[in-house]
Amino acid sequence: MKVTVVGAGAVGASCAEYIAIKNFASEVVLVDIKEGFAEGKAMDLMQTSSLNGFDTKITGTTGDYSKTAGSDVCVITSGIARKPGMSRDELLGINASIVKMVSASLIEQSPNTIIIVVSNPMDTMTYLVHKTTGLPKNRIIGMGGALDSARFKYRLAEALEAPISDVDGMVIGGHSDKGMVPLTRLATRNSVSVSEFLSEERLEQVKQDTKVGGATLTGLLGTSAWYAPGAAVSGMVQAIACDTKKIFPCSALLDGEYGLSDLCIGVPVVLGKNGIEKIVSINLSDAEKAHLAASAEAVKNNNASLNL
Ligand code: LAC
Repeated sequence: MKVTVVGAGAVGASCAEYIAIKNFASEVVLVDIKEGFAEGKAMDLMQTSSLNGFDTKITGTTGDYSKTAGSDVCVITSGIARKPGMSRDELLGINASIVKMVSASLIEQSPNTIIIVVSNPMDTMTYLVHKTTGLPKNRIIGMGGALDSARFKYRLAEALEAPISDVDGMVIGGHSDKGMVPLTRLATRNSVSVSEFLSEERLEQVKQDTKVGGATLTGLLGTSAWYAPGAAVSGMVQAIACDTKKIFPCSALLDGEYGLSDLCIGVPVVLGKNGIEKIVSINLSDAEKAHLAASAEAVKNNNASLNL
């Protein structure tokens, strides 16, 4: 399994690191436009291999896409990250041109690749890759829900004062503060509904904290987060590499599922060797449906600014 990660910034490097540490990929290629940067990150990471016990070979290149040829999975993290006070949507114009160029270069070298889009605004960037590359829809996946769900579980465990391994929960919808739909109704502590343990008000707080998860970190760090985004991507790549058929909420191109069409938005999908093996339909409450519809409307508004 060969994986390319475009963008050797904090998210890309953390993604490469987690993929390597999980030891399922033979090769990870990091690509960046800043001279020597990807090569440096790759070398630094390789010097952890004896310490962390992995055999994955990590290499770096300054924009030479021929080095990415034959990649099974390509991850696009390139573009501008948000600064404190910025919304993900504000990155649309500049990131669209970068993501369009990067995805074309990747497909030229790896026509059979599966693409995971991380660059923001992620749902719109995923849609852009669909529209501009024409790859089959199972092979273009947006990373948002896996990260948002991890943040949801973190907040749930905190509220429940429970170990995180006891907690399960999922966030669907757009990868934006307003667009996220944390499914508190379906969240559990060891198969018991969290509403058995937490009041409506506390659950509402968990929901709010989850939705501003990225913004909270941007405020603290001065830039976008990287450990959890990197770990979320590595989990998705592992599910594809090992054909696990695990369910992740991911941004997928919808064609009538959840009553929505012609946009990419977070829904539960089964990930396996073909990328999105299946979009999973779950029954939503009226309130969840309304929230998802509003989230879709906002994503569609963003998509319209792409002027495709
Ligand atoms: C975040 C970025 C990756 O939510 O969108 O941290």
